[in-house]
Amino acid sequence: MSATRNVAVFVGSLRKASLNRKLANALIAMAPAPLKLTIHEIGDLPLYNQDFEADPPAAIIEFKKRLAAADAVLFITPEYNRSVPGALKNAIDVGSRPYGKSAWSGKPGAVISVSPGALGAFGANHALRQSLVFLDVPAMAQPEAYIGNAAALFDDKDALVNESTRAFMLKFLEAFAQWIERNAPR
Ligand SMILES: Cc1cc2nc3c(=O)[nH]c(=O)nc-3n(C[C@H](O)[C@H](O)[C@H](O)COP(=O)(O)O)c2cc1C
Repeated sequence: MSATRNVAVFVGSLRKASLNRKLANALIAMAPAPLKLTIHEIGDLPLYNQDFEADPPAAIIEFKKRLAAADAVLFITPEYNRSVPGALKNAIDVGSRPYGKSAWSGKPGAVISVSPGALGAFGANHALRQSLVFLDVPAMAQPEAYIGNAAALFDDKDALVNESTRAFMLKFLEAFAQWIERNAPR
């Protein structure tokens, strides 16, 4: 069995009752070895401003330090206006600069998009993948995860009670574990 793989999880919604956060918490609880999932909070990051690159705020230094220490990255995001929510895009930008000092480079990644609507936030999923290409984050291609009608998947205690989604998410995590082993920086 491989050593623990620390996966930094980024949730694209900031609201307390977020469906994306509920799914993130479910995945944290069910992640198979060697994966260890941890949410890296993005809600308190300052908005990216190139003026502070030379002397970044402490929150950004800490965010980049924690990201640099992770073995892999997992994005769990809603779709806002057919694209990536601003808070998540900001986290991506903050972690990517200064130019040449990106903390994302080379980390194996995966994307899950979640929506109460029928389309499973497909637009956000693929808009995010566009940035990941430039960031040199090899993003797992299969299985794709567009989780639609998500409000119906959880019970009133936020447990993921939809059995087929749970089985699919386990399959997704097992594939991601293999993806990380194949793409981990040597
Ligand atoms: C600004 C905004 C834009 C939205 N645009 C979309 C959209 O393009 N596609 C979609 O499926 N849902 C859209 N929604 C609805 C979100 O999918 C819904 O609010 C969802 O619950 C957000 O994820 P969360 O539960 O993790 O907070 C939008 C919501 C907001 C607030």
